[in-house]
Amino acid sequence: MGGSDSQDVLARIEREKEGYLEELKEYIRIPSVSTDPAYKDDVLRAADFLVEKMKAAGLTAEKIPTAGHPLVYGEWLGAPGKPTLLFYGHYDVQPVDPIDLWRHDPFEPTVEGDNLVARGATDDKGQSYTHLKAIAALLAERGSLPVNVKFLVEGEEEAGGQSIDRYVREDGGKRLAADAVVISDSSLYAPGQPALVYGLRGLAYMEIKVTGPDRDLHSGTYGGAVRNPLNAMAQIIARLRDPQTGKILIPGFYDDVRPLEEWEREEWAALPFDESEYERGLGIDTVFGEEGYTTRERASGRPTCDVNGIYGGYMGKGAKTVLPSWGGAKISMRLVPDQDSKKIAALFTDYVKSIAPSGVTVEVTDLHGGPAVVLETKGPIVDAAMDVMEEVWGARPIRIREGGSIPIVSVFAKVLGCPVLLLGFGLDDDGLHSPNEKFNISHFYNGIRSVVRLVDRLGGL
Ligand code: BES
Ligand code: MN
Ligand code: MN
Repeated sequence: MGGSDSQDVLARIEREKEGYLEELKEYIRIPSVSTDPAYKDDVLRAADFLVEKMKAAGLTAEKIPTAGHPLVYGEWLGAPGKPTLLFYGHYDVQPVDPIDLWRHDPFEPTVEGDNLVARGATDDKGQSYTHLKAIAALLAERGSLPVNVKFLVEGEEEAGGQSIDRYVREDGGKRLAADAVVISDSSLYAPGQPALVYGLRGLAYMEIKVTGPDRDLHSGTYGGAVRNPLNAMAQIIARLRDPQTGKILIPGFYDDVRPLEEWEREEWAALPFDESEYERGLGIDTVFGEEGYTTRERASGRPTCDVNGIYGGYMGKGAKTVLPSWGGAKISMRLVPDQDSKKIAALFTDYVKSIAPSGVTVEVTDLHGGPAVVLETKGPIVDAAMDVMEEVWGARPIRIREGGSIPIVSVFAKVLGCPVLLLGFGLDDDGLHSPNEKFNISHFYNGIRSVVRLVDRLGGL
C-alpha cells in the first residue's frame, strides 16, 4: 500500500501539485475578514468553499452555526481501532490595511518568485489547506485512510475565537475525541530548520477611551485651559512601561508569571540567531525589551504590553487647530503561563483608572483574552511528528515557544487531553497581518507531504 514510505501518495502530489495551488488561490480570493462586519457574506462563502472541498475529498462535512461565524466540521471515520487525528485551522483572515503598501490586490494571489503573495497566504489558509489536500490525496490514491480524521476549522480566530471556545467546551471531547490535534498556524524556526512549537502566549486585549470637553474645541481659544484627552492618553500610555528597563509598571502584573526554565534558556541560547540581521530585517537600529532577557526570550517567553493603535483628533491632511473632544487606544498584553487574562485585565483597568488625570473621564473595556499554553513535548505521537518533519524538511525540529496566540489551543489541550502538535510551515518574515503577506510555495507542498507522512506513520502505531 505504500504506507511505510507513502511513495504512492507522494507521487500523486507531484503530478497534481499545480492544481492544488490553483485551488488554494481560489480559497484565498474569498476575502474572509472576520473582524469587519462588511465581510460577513465573504466569511460565509469561505466556509461553504471548505465544506464543498471536504465533500469532494470524500469526507462528510457540514457548517456548524454559532453566535458568530460558522465552524466547518468534516470527518472520515473508516478506520476503527486506529488513532484519530483532529485537524484545526482558521479560514478567516486579518484586515488588509494599510492597503497602499500592497504591491497588488491583497485578495488576488500572485506568484512572485517562490512565493504566493496575498492576505491569508500563510495565516492560515495556505498552511491549513495542506491538511485537506493531504487527506484528499490519500483518499484519492487509496480509497481509505490508515487513521480516522476530523477537521474543525473556525472563522473567528483573528477575532478572539469565542465561538469555537464555547463549542469545544460544550462538546467535552465527545464528537471531537481524538488522539492528537494537528495545527499548522505557526512558523519554522528558519528556512530549512523546522520547529516543534510547544508553547504560545496568551492575550488580554483592552481599549481605553478618554473623554474631555463635549465637542472639539478651537485650540487657540481653549488650548491651555482645558485638559486635552489625547495628551492625557499619552500620559497614561507612558506610564504602562518603564522606558529604560522595559518592565511593565502595572502593579501585580508579574505576580503569577512562571519563570523560564533553565533548560529552555539554555536550549534557546544555543539556537543560531544573528541580532544585527534581525534588526536589519526589521528596519530598526536596535532591539528593545525587558532588561535581563534575550530577544528570543522577550518575544516568546515573557509578557508584554503594547499599544496597537491610537485614534482621535484631527487625522486628515494638513493642519487643523483643534483640541479633540476624545481619544482612544487599543492595547494588548501578551501573557505567559500562569497569568490569568481576566485578572490581568482587572489589574490593567484599576491601574489606568488610578493614574487618570483630572478633567477627563477614562473608560476601559476588556475586548477579549485567553491564557498562554505550554504543551507536552514527549511521547510516541510527538516523536512521530518530529521524525516526519525531519524527513520532509531535512533537519530535526528544534523545540521553541512562539510569541503569538491561538486561543483554542489551551482549550483543546484541556478538554481533549491529547497531544496538540503545532507543526508550522510558515516563516517569521511571511508578513502575517502585514502588507504583502506571503507563503513559500514549496512550503505549501512540503506541508502536504508532512501531513501525508504523519498520517501514514500514525496509522502504523
Ligand atoms: N497564526 C497566528 C498566531 C501565531 C503567529 C502563532 C505566529 C505562532 C506564530 C494567529 O492567526 C494569530 O494571529 N492569532 C492572534 C490571536 C488573537 C487575535 C486572539 C494573535 O496572536 O494576535
Ligand atoms: Mn493564524
Ligand atoms: Mn493571525
